[in-house]
This record gives sequence, C-alpha cells and structure tokens, in this order.
Amino acid sequence: MRAVDIIMRKRAGAELSRDELAFLVGGYVAGEIPDYQISAWAMAVFFQGMSAGETAALTDVMLHSGAVIDLAGIAGPFVDKHSTGGVGDKTSLILAPLAAALGIRDPMMSGRALGHTGGTLDKLEAIPGYRTNLSIEEFRAIIAKVGFAMTGQTKDIVPADRLLYALRDVTATVESIPLITASILSKKAAEGAEALVFDVKYGSGAFMKDPAQGEKLARSLADTGAAMGKKIIALLTDMNEPLGNMTGNFLEVEESLDCLEGKGPADLMDVTLELAARMAVLGGKAKDAAEGRRLCEETLAGGKPRELFLSNVESQGGDVKKMLEMRGRYRSPFSAELRAREGGYISAIDAWDVGHAGIALGIGRSRTEDAVSPTAGVQFHLKSGAQVKAGDLIMTVWGKDKAGLETALPALNDAIKYAETPPPERKLILKEIIPQ
Ligand code: URA
Repeated sequence: MRAVDIIMRKRAGAELSRDELAFLVGGYVAGEIPDYQISAWAMAVFFQGMSAGETAALTDVMLHSGAVIDLAGIAGPFVDKHSTGGVGDKTSLILAPLAAALGIRDPMMSGRALGHTGGTLDKLEAIPGYRTNLSIEEFRAIIAKVGFAMTGQTKDIVPADRLLYALRDVTATVESIPLITASILSKKAAEGAEALVFDVKYGSGAFMKDPAQGEKLARSLADTGAAMGKKIIALLTDMNEPLGNMTGNFLEVEESLDCLEGKGPADLMDVTLELAARMAVLGGKAKDAAEGRRLCEETLAGGKPRELFLSNVESQGGDVKKMLEMRGRYRSPFSAELRAREGGYISAIDAWDVGHAGIALGIGRSRTEDAVSPTAGVQFHLKSGAQVKAGDLIMTVWGKDKAGLETALPALNDAIKYAETPPPERKLILKEIIPQ
C-alpha cells in the first residue's frame, strides 16, 4: 500500500477500507507517513466526506492506536460529556464535579484549543501546577478518589487523535463531520465511559454553522456511539454568542468557580444544568431531564461540587491556594476596554469574531507548536439584549502582547452588533437527539 494511492482514492470520493485507514493512521502514529500526506488525506475527507461504515472504522482504528483505559474495580456509573467546541464553553469544569457529587464517575478525556474554539486542557493548565498528562494509574486513582479526572490524549492513549487533532487545527480540516465524530468518539471510547452526553453546538462560533448541520453531526455522534455500545443523549445548543461572561484560559477557570459558588451567568448555567441533567438520567440518578435538573440545582446549592473541584485540582497537581488568590488578578498587563460605539441595544456578540480574536490574543493557537497564554482573555460586561448608551463599557480585553491586543481589538469591535430594538430572546437548547 502507498499513502499517495489512498489519498488519490479518497480525493476521487471512494470509500476507504478499514485496512487502508489502519495503514494511514498507523503509519502516521509510527512516524512513517509525514504530516503533509495526512493533511492531504484530511482535506480530501473534508471535501468528500465518509460513509457511516468508514467513520466507524476510522474511529476504531484511532481508538486502537493506543491503550484503552480499564476502569474495572472502580464503582460506576461512568458517564461523560463532550462538546463539539465553542467559545467561552467551560461547562466541563462545572458539570464534572457536579456529576461526581451526584455519585456519577466522570472519566473525562478532553482536547486543547482547536481552530477558534477554546480547549478544556488549556484552561485547566492555566491553574498553576495542574497536570493534564495523567498516566492511566493516576487517572484511575483520581476518579476513584474524587469522582472525576481530566486528562488529554497522550502518546499512550489515543495518540492518533493527539496528532490528528493538532494537524487539523492548522490545516483548515476541523469542520468535517466524520473527522469530528472519529476524534471525539475515539477519545470517549478510550477513557472508559459507558454513557455519553454530547453538547453539539451550532452557530457562528461552532464548527457547524446552522442547526441542520449541527443535527447531522449530532446524529453521526449518536449513531456511531450507539453502535459502539454506548448510551447516548445529544443536545443541540446555540453557539452564536460566547457562553458566559468570560473567554480565556484562566478567566474561564474563574468563571467556573463562580458557577460552582452559585454566581454563574444565566446562559452558562442553563446549558451546564441541562447537560448535567442528562448525565444524571444516563447515570440512573434521575428518571427524566426535569428531575435531573432539579437534582443538579439542589446539589450545586449544597456546595459539594465546589469542594470536589478543589479536590480534583489538588489531586492533579494544581495549587489550590494560589488559584484562589489569583482570582480577579491573574491578567496580562496588555489590556484595553471596548465601549459602545452607539446607543441602542446590543443585538449580538458574534462568537466567530470573538473566537478568532482569541487566537491573536493568545487564548488559542495558530501553529501547532504555539503556546497559549493563561492570562489573555475577554470579559463581557454586557451581552446581547442589553440596552446601551454610546461609551458604555462592553468588554475588557487582555492580550498576550501588545501586537496581539492591537490585532484583536478591531475584530472584537466588529463582533458587537447594534439594533434600535431589543433582539428576540435566544433559545439556547434547540433539541435533544438520541440514537435511531
Ligand atoms: N472536539 C474534539 O474532540 N474533536 C474535534 O474534532 C472537534 C471537537
């Protein structure tokens, strides 16, 4: 077999066999097939798509590129949530401890910033000392002790996704339903979860721009996941505006702490609680989503999820005291304020513009080898629906350096849309999708 022939077949729209996919993925992980050939294949997949069988085969090949975590010996139920990527989306940091407080075990394997979207691992690593490269033994031990652990793909666990994820990020091949499906499900199958809640985002700040595409991705995740023996619920959620009032790595840790202390913004809390409610259902803790939501609200108010979050930070090497002391203060010195250009109502804050500006600020990366900044970010003082006068403060912005800040400011200014009348109320959860 030759990689070039397989790329040519995919370019022509052929359905690749499991052996061909195993040859490509295995060769890539072994360092025998170079980045440029895998980039060309990923671009061919982007344009030609994959059949359901091909997507399932790719998922399986990626899953078996490394070890599969065995959670035997730890009492379940094991339920996880995964988002398809958004801006300001820090729900994982809130719902993992919340689920753990309900008696669910969450073995969470997450990713880094991808394209214009933020990454859970980058956020967690903004906490001084926090480690996201846990060994399998550490991962198991922390799940058993705290109820949840958060780690990344490593050279031992789904190494194919670790490499492909980073390559897709910088080759414009992220927004592909089969590649997203295989990336997410290979990680989720490797971590040992038996049930999964997917937050499938659509809108300007998501990889799927409209609800129909979002639903297609949700179906692909639900059906491929169910074929792998997982219990699945997917929610289709709105990502036209950043979620919550903060984007940025440490800023999002801070906002997650606010949520765990009952001071979270309404949009972020709503999406988090709806997702956590489905985790409660899949974990057998609630009979339906309404009961799950009530249970989650009561549990959050009781304070145990916050305690478990702090315990997880400590267990993963983070410095809890420093993290708490740094709240409100751990910011880049390069900052600016954005004020309303005109009076009226804010009709939208475009998540795509904010996400792209975030790369220049240093929240995300434009090259695989780039480091992200823990202290860059945007705080939204006002969001859509707010009535403003010219000059009102809308955003405070922190960039990794002066040049990044200057590049981002015009895009952030463009992200703010104005209208003379209040915009219609946003519906954050569009629908629930289960396997067919
Ligand atoms: N999240 C993932 O884990 N992978 C993708 O490809 C997109 C979002």
